[in-house]
Amino acid sequence: MNKAFCEFFAGIGLVREGLSDSGWTCVYANDINPKKRELYTKRFGDNGHFHLDDVWNCAEVLTRLPDPPFLATASFPCIDLSLAGHWKGFDGDHSSTFFGFAKVLEGMGDRRPKVVMLENVTGFITSKGGKDFEAAARALAELGYWIDAFVLDAKNFVPQSRPRVFVIGVHESFSTSVVARKGSGDWFGGAWSRHVERGGKKLRPDNLRELMERVELPTGWAAVNIAPPTSSAPDVSEVIDLDDDQEWWDEEAVTKHHDMMSDRHRSIVDEMLSSKKRFTGTIYRRKRYGKTRAEIRFDGLAGCLRTPKGGSARQIVIAIDKGKLRIRWMSPREYARLQGASDFPLVENTIQNLYGFGDAVCVPVIRWIDQHVLTPLFNSYLKTRGNGRKSHAAVATANNAGGERPEHVA
Ligand SMILES: C[S@@+](CC[C@H](N)C(=O)[O-])C[C@H]1O[C@@H](n2cnc3c(N)ncnc32)[C@H](O)[C@@H]1O
Repeated sequence: MNKAFCEFFAGIGLVREGLSDSGWTCVYANDINPKKRELYTKRFGDNGHFHLDDVWNCAEVLTRLPDPPFLATASFPCIDLSLAGHWKGFDGDHSSTFFGFAKVLEGMGDRRPKVVMLENVTGFITSKGGKDFEAAARALAELGYWIDAFVLDAKNFVPQSRPRVFVIGVHESFSTSVVARKGSGDWFGGAWSRHVERGGKKLRPDNLRELMERVELPTGWAAVNIAPPTSSAPDVSEVIDLDDDQEWWDEEAVTKHHDMMSDRHRSIVDEMLSSKKRFTGTIYRRKRYGKTRAEIRFDGLAGCLRTPKGGSARQIVIAIDKGKLRIRWMSPREYARLQGASDFPLVENTIQNLYGFGDAVCVPVIRWIDQHVLTPLFNSYLKTRGNGRKSHAAVATANNAGGERPEHVA
């Protein structure tokens, strides 16, 4: 088996961007959005492996999927797992596309990847009091995967606050010492607990740990032996362009945003202006008690990039230098830098770029996971190939290939 992977909900391809350094080959990519595909193919070319289609068209997806890839990734839509989607969770049309992915895995039968990786916002852990996370873990476990999960924040790598939960599924047919399995006798139970302890609350916060302790799965919980990343990111000023060629706003718009600041933020800004201090940071507009506020981050990080639906989701740059205040929209290139993809080729349309990057994964986070989890799993597979354990779970067969979208999904 080659170091091959397929990516679902591929978007503009930042999962692939993060995996490509260590020799992974993307053999199939799926996304429904042609504008994302345009960005993806601008970066990676188009050799026909990008399948522009609804993941719920499982039969078609299955015919396009090549020989068994080792890894499948799925950063399925997050909107229903957040306030923006009214916490509909898996009752929403968007995030429930996870089950389209699960149907594809089911239909793959014995071509099923040895490892799967999900990515989503941390609201995935808490949605419906943990029930949605449990449903996803159970769906994968019923397909024979042992499940681990951990949280990583992009702020360890780039100046952006972007905590995300990653779920790793390791198929029961693949025996590896890279993960410890919980509860398979004292020996395994002990190692599992040690691995979880090593990751601490940073990697597996209480709410996640509680689910991993409480929820019973047909396979079980696993844990990779990883400690949280210790690196820290440069200041946000490192990714912001301060030259006069940028589209800085006119005085009226700057004054409007100065007025929109809370008294506390405005007084900090005014103090910097009068003392001729330098400051570069970011602003989000937020509704607070019925008023729109221009909220500044002073901690050297940008807020979490989002898709720019309306001005409140679009990030703003603020720069103070020599007593002068300048403000403007953050540019697509700066969005790309905040996702660790500085040189990623952009398209003409600004909003299309911002949508692509706002929705994407942070590249160095994927690299870190690759280095500590995915490549070790692949190397371990190469070593143990041929010694795989026999599957105990009822592995679903290709009879279910034509997965159907549930009633509530339009
Ligand atoms: C969170 S984004 C993934 C971004 C991607 N990881 C990246 O780095 O660009 C979710 C993606 O799911 C895609 N999507 C939503 N519904 C889909 C469906 N029914 N079938 C396939 N893709 C879908 C969206 O177009 C979007 O690109």
